[in-house]
Amino acid sequence: MATVKFYKSEEQVPLEMHKVRVVQKLYLPTVEERVKKLAEAGNNTFLLQNRDVFMDMLTDSGVNAMSDNQVAAMMQADDSYAGSETCNRLMKVIKEVFGTEYFLPAHQGRACENILAETFVKPGDVVPMNFHFTTTKAHITRKGGSVAELIRHEGLLPQSDNPFKGNFDIPALEKLIEEVGADHVPFVRIEAGTNLVGGQPLSLENMLQVAEVCKKNGILSVLDASLLQDNLYFMKTREEACKNMTIKEIMRTLCEKMDLIYFSSRKLGFARGGAIVSNNEKLILKMKEYIPLYEGFLTYGGMEVRSMEAMAVGLLETLDEEIINQGPIFIEYLVKELNDYGVPMILPAGGLGAHINAMEFLKGMPQSQYPAGALATALYIAGGIRGMERGSLSEQRNPDGSENYAEMELVRLACPRRVFTLSQIKYCADRVKWLYDNRHLIGGLKWVEEPDVLRFFFGKLTPIGDWQEKLAAKFREDFGDSL
Ligand code: F0G
Repeated sequence: MATVKFYKSEEQVPLEMHKVRVVQKLYLPTVEERVKKLAEAGNNTFLLQNRDVFMDMLTDSGVNAMSDNQVAAMMQADDSYAGSETCNRLMKVIKEVFGTEYFLPAHQGRACENILAETFVKPGDVVPMNFHFTTTKAHITRKGGSVAELIRHEGLLPQSDNPFKGNFDIPALEKLIEEVGADHVPFVRIEAGTNLVGGQPLSLENMLQVAEVCKKNGILSVLDASLLQDNLYFMKTREEACKNMTIKEIMRTLCEKMDLIYFSSRKLGFARGGAIVSNNEKLILKMKEYIPLYEGFLTYGGMEVRSMEAMAVGLLETLDEEIINQGPIFIEYLVKELNDYGVPMILPAGGLGAHINAMEFLKGMPQSQYPAGALATALYIAGGIRGMERGSLSEQRNPDGSENYAEMELVRLACPRRVFTLSQIKYCADRVKWLYDNRHLIGGLKWVEEPDVLRFFFGKLTPIGDWQEKLAAKFREDFGDSL
């Protein structure tokens, strides 16, 4: 990759290798309005209206900017139910990108997870994975299975210089298989990169080792490639063995060893939709009947045909390092700005977004008051910035009703790819810094309405005490009439 060096700048800053051609106007409500909007949204950033959000850093899912070529391709979509040219074009690209022969379409990533769980998971089964994702775990447990998280211990240390904190603990994987027996392990799921532990990547070496263990034990290896785009960039830039490989070569070397690959194209490929791909026809045939049942006919699987065209172009663009580096270098910039200021961040910077360690930011706040959720609401008050709680609120209660506290309490500031400018990223850093200096004003949250399943999506909370009003008053004092 060519680096563009600055002549007079004091520091190297990320440089966008694209220009903006379609824009959306943003609004920033006043701090007093922000407190009000937050209350209306039950202190849940999922329930805020986008018109009230200045920087939407909730997710990178389905909100990445598309390229001109993607938009152009959407115009040629063929929406015939059977024998669609769009489907043929997408299948050709999938073969080119993953090197796989067979393809099942699905409307998004969790739909693939539903089909995988439906086909392979039986009651009592254990599915090992480096780390769980919310929807993945929900589908596996719904079928009576359980999840075993086998991430190496560095993965859960907030700060480390380990470049691949998403890696599996291989001896632990071997031990688990021996203990539960290969018959009770329907597949091993490799999440690359990881979502809930700060977008941390896995090395190519580690993933190939997992595939080897699977093969030795006659267990399927399943790659969740939803966040593979950033992970490919990290392998290329951080892993010695990948330095002289092209992104396509890394992709092919990895995919060749996986029995099944699935992904959310809301992330991978800057589009919307999902797919399961494989070179194993038998496995595909086992799952095939569920596609028309749950998703749609085999030519579209619930996806809108225009999205399929965008996906085809987006997947090809994923092989271009200059395109996929934009997310990670902006995230790295944001993480460095905040870390240099003393804000506790998950280190090293990963993919998907910047992650604030809320447990450390709000040291002393008990997990029962949901520090990550509280910090996410405080950040909306401070800057109209919508992040996502990735901590205990995102967990499900234990069957006996007790809390299942998360290993980490994180606020995720997602950086949808090619969406934000550097000045917006600087604004975000500025507001987080102000909040850090005023962290003593931040209090906890308690439930008002708590759903049983995936409670973080719809649940409503309220602040404990009047700390939000006090935070807003301090904002006024410090920023005068600024928005
Ligand atoms: N796997 C991973 C690693 C994910 O991050 C996601 C979604 C899914 C599967 C499910 O895909 O949304 O298309 O059904 N992550 C989104 C997020 C929701 O905001 O992190 P989906």
